[in-house]
Amino acid sequence: MHIVFAASECAPYAKTGGLADVVAALPPALSAQGHRVTIFLPYYRQVARQVPEPPVVLPSLTIPFPSYNRFVRILDGGKEIGSNQGSVQLYFVDCPEMFDREGFYGTATGDYWDNAERFGLYCRAVIEASKILGVPDVFHVHDWQAAMLAVMLRSTYFFDPVLRSVPCVLSIHNAGYQGWFPPRTMETLLLPWDMFTLDKLESYDNVNFLKGGIVYADAITTVSRKYAEEIQTAEFGNGLDDMLRKRSGDLIGILNGVDYSEWNPATDPHIAAHYTAAKLAGKKECRRDLLHAFDMKEVSDATAVLGIVSRFATQKGFDLIEQISADLMQEDVALLVLGTGEPYFENFFRGLASRYPQKMSVKVGYDNGIAHKIEAGADIFLMPSRYEPCGLNQIYSLKYGTVPVVRATGGLDDTIYEEHEGQGNGFKFHGYNPQDLLDAIRRALAVRRVPAQWKAMMQRGMKQDFSWEQPAREYVQVYERVVRQRAW
Ligand code: ADP
Ligand code: GLC
Repeated sequence: MHIVFAASECAPYAKTGGLADVVAALPPALSAQGHRVTIFLPYYRQVARQVPEPPVVLPSLTIPFPSYNRFVRILDGGKEIGSNQGSVQLYFVDCPEMFDREGFYGTATGDYWDNAERFGLYCRAVIEASKILGVPDVFHVHDWQAAMLAVMLRSTYFFDPVLRSVPCVLSIHNAGYQGWFPPRTMETLLLPWDMFTLDKLESYDNVNFLKGGIVYADAITTVSRKYAEEIQTAEFGNGLDDMLRKRSGDLIGILNGVDYSEWNPATDPHIAAHYTAAKLAGKKECRRDLLHAFDMKEVSDATAVLGIVSRFATQKGFDLIEQISADLMQEDVALLVLGTGEPYFENFFRGLASRYPQKMSVKVGYDNGIAHKIEAGADIFLMPSRYEPCGLNQIYSLKYGTVPVVRATGGLDDTIYEEHEGQGNGFKFHGYNPQDLLDAIRRALAVRRVPAQWKAMMQRGMKQDFSWEQPAREYVQVYERVVRQRAW
């Protein structure tokens, strides 16, 4: 089967979060099962810095707008994606006035004003390029930035004899980001006004890209079973729950996998020493190296090192950390944080570090090497998310023997289990409140004081297998199903 992936991120070229990891790892897993995958990624400035002059595959595609055309080049990004088996092809969608900018989606002061046009253009370019470079058996589009592809296929491209029978699968990685734009976007993207209704693209007087994708995709997947249930409720659906309930027969939760060629303490090039579940000694060296990187060399072996690697977004539950910070700092812990995002949380963590310089340190920024060092060197990984569609860091943590403390939501609930007296693979709290988080951290600290129990817990997590093979099979089943349905 030939699958075209449309997504706004792909590691290592363009990454703000887990979407990039998934888009880099699922295609090689599909390829290993005999499928052909083509990925289209915008040629952002950050990509151009890494791949300065890729070969031009298509010199000029015409992308029409109401009173002008834009012109897009398709560039050859090569075949080296993740642990690629050879039949994944990456292309870049080059349109400098849209993508040669400092950020992917915006700057520190806000989103780019023309994101509807940027990602509308991107979707159309993927369709046009696919018609020339190879019409797939199925399009697989990710999140709001690519969701309009599903809408376009079934509206402006409706009469295209080549695309008619090609189905489209939409994966929702985060229903908190929907792509809301003013009504005139319908005209900008040359979409028929009769789609601007509440049962189609409209929500609250705006055009909603993700909603459009939900309405027009042949099947919808999301990144854990629990989140697939949650988004059908008012609490987690962000206004889309009604539409998602209507499509519940076509909504499937598939837990993300992990690319163990990238995240594995036995081979990771970013960490100070290698280790495995059977030979844990190297983890101590990684801990020393991590404390060194954060300038916290004085921390004793008895102290529990707590790690965080995250986008600083409201979704991630850091307001709970803020509320327990005074109590937490009384415990025998060292808290090491890497992240970037909302200024409020950047300032909170910076403030905490200046108040407790012996116990807390933060690096504000994006740094893949440090992210790996935290996974390897910390004792405990914190993810108190308000909601979490899947969450990859807790799964990486399991592999690195870094015991996760998580809130029971979305993929965190599906991957972490806590049993009496530390018999699980981590610690989990339910209610979204600071006391429950603090209690869960204290339970973790108590088990850590019993070395044999702690070691057994680390090893249980390290031995679990979350590789992409099984999820890739589940995606293939979805592709086969939509291909069958559309052939009818
Ligand atoms: P989300 O996609 O919501 O951000 P995930 O847990 O699925 O959450 O994935 C986050 C990914 O982004 C992980 O690979 C993590 O290591 C990475 N990441 C997040 N913030 C940073 C950062 N500041 N520096 C380096 N990597 C980061
Ligand atoms: C989103 C979610 C995260 C998920 C990732 C990859 O960014 O917030 O939970 O792991 O996508 O699917």
